[in-house]
Amino acid sequence: MDITTLTQKVLKDHDRQIQLSQRLAKVGYNSTIGKLLRLKSYYKEGFTILKAWRDFLYIRKEHIGDTFFAVDHAIMHADHAQVKKLMQVEPQVRSNDLGIIRIIDPGYMLNHPLSLGMNGQEHTGMRAIFKQALPNPLEQPDDLGRYIDRFLGDATKQGKLHIGDDLPRFMVKILHHLVFEISLTEEEVTASRAYIKGLPLASLPNFVSRGLLAFKTGPILKHRKQLAQRYQTSPKWATYVDIGKQYELTPEQIANGLFDMIHIAGTAGTSALMGSVIGVLCLNDSLQADVRQEIENLWPGTDALTGSCLQQATLLNNVILETARLYPPVRFVSQLATEAGELEVSGQKCPFHKGTRLLGSIFTANRDANRYQNPDKFSVTRDFSDLLSWNGDAHERVCPGKSLSIELIKVFCMYLLKQHQWQQFTEVKWDLEKVTAVTPNELELQGFIAKA
Ligand code: HEM
Repeated sequence: MDITTLTQKVLKDHDRQIQLSQRLAKVGYNSTIGKLLRLKSYYKEGFTILKAWRDFLYIRKEHIGDTFFAVDHAIMHADHAQVKKLMQVEPQVRSNDLGIIRIIDPGYMLNHPLSLGMNGQEHTGMRAIFKQALPNPLEQPDDLGRYIDRFLGDATKQGKLHIGDDLPRFMVKILHHLVFEISLTEEEVTASRAYIKGLPLASLPNFVSRGLLAFKTGPILKHRKQLAQRYQTSPKWATYVDIGKQYELTPEQIANGLFDMIHIAGTAGTSALMGSVIGVLCLNDSLQADVRQEIENLWPGTDALTGSCLQQATLLNNVILETARLYPPVRFVSQLATEAGELEVSGQKCPFHKGTRLLGSIFTANRDANRYQNPDKFSVTRDFSDLLSWNGDAHERVCPGKSLSIELIKVFCMYLLKQHQWQQFTEVKWDLEKVTAVTPNELELQGFIAKA
């Protein structure tokens, strides 16, 4: 669809959202008809977003403003100040949503809500288990280093490192190693990747996702059940169960919560960001040379990598943060309005109900010219103190894997740049239209070998 036709469509659909607000006020937000109307709107706009998410956001932002309706009549905030404020609300009320994606068929998660959608004690309990499960990367970076070294060694045998294929496989493996001390077989890793790729299936009605598409969802769900069972044989399992008991969480809840933490939050997010960092370094020779120099200065010989080395790698740190600003792996956060209210959009007053979804668009907020000068330009000298990519900082819903993901990417880049080289790389391209992960998926480092 050309941009003029798309613009007309996106704006016309927003006019319908405004009419919908009046209709919902009459028929009731949670009445059967109200739910159906919102679902219709969710699928209608969802299809546009699937193919042109960035244009969708910017058309509404430029023509309507920083606050507009989207998908299931949710209120979307698109600027830095409002998204930051939204993230800091405490306590937050959540429903079972994955950012912009509504989990319409919870059976895809074996009827366990995502931790993102939990509230109260259940959420506090899952957070306590995440905290226990995720190691402090600064304490033993050498353990991470050895794991990464073996993985990169395997890539040298293939003579290539493929961003879209190899990094997610690596992340699934290392997170199972860190959280459960278990090794996955190659078949299990393939099945875990299929689970992650199949996530949009959870947004289809049950009769489609597990009826018509049972040939797809069946094997994926079987894998999830089997892994959740395997977790219970881990030497770390008893500790997780002990913590869970304090919050009345069952073993099934714990295993499923950790499955989602590893697969959805950990693997998808971190492999996408790691791929983007490698893409940025491939495109910018002088930045890559400076990062190499920093690594050489901090870690000159063959001694074990230390936490202090990682802490002093400030340039590499800023490369990771700036990449996360421009290419945030998580693009939307979601919570529910705790009170009804009224919103003025396009000069019209629109009532909204308690329970209306409030969405924050991290991608547009991160490129807000009121917060960042030359927002589309890559710069490692910015003030990153209120970066939104990990859901901000210092509040209850901040990403629990923030420090691990940053330090893991640092160690990965250190081993990659210090001990390996490649002859050439394929095109570095971020697909900012299809709503897949924001990473240069097709990038491949070719002629990949260990340095002599
Ligand atoms: C080791 C890797 C990672 C792990 C284990 C991890 C884990 C998690 C978990 C378990 C949550 C849910 C927290 C809750 O329910 O309260 C979460 C939330 C979040 N994570 Fe991560 N994460 C990782 C990497 C990343 C990366 C690389 C990014 C982006 C740069 C990221 C961004 C976010 C955001 C924005 C949220 C909040 C989502 C929301 O509240 O809707 N995470 N993470």
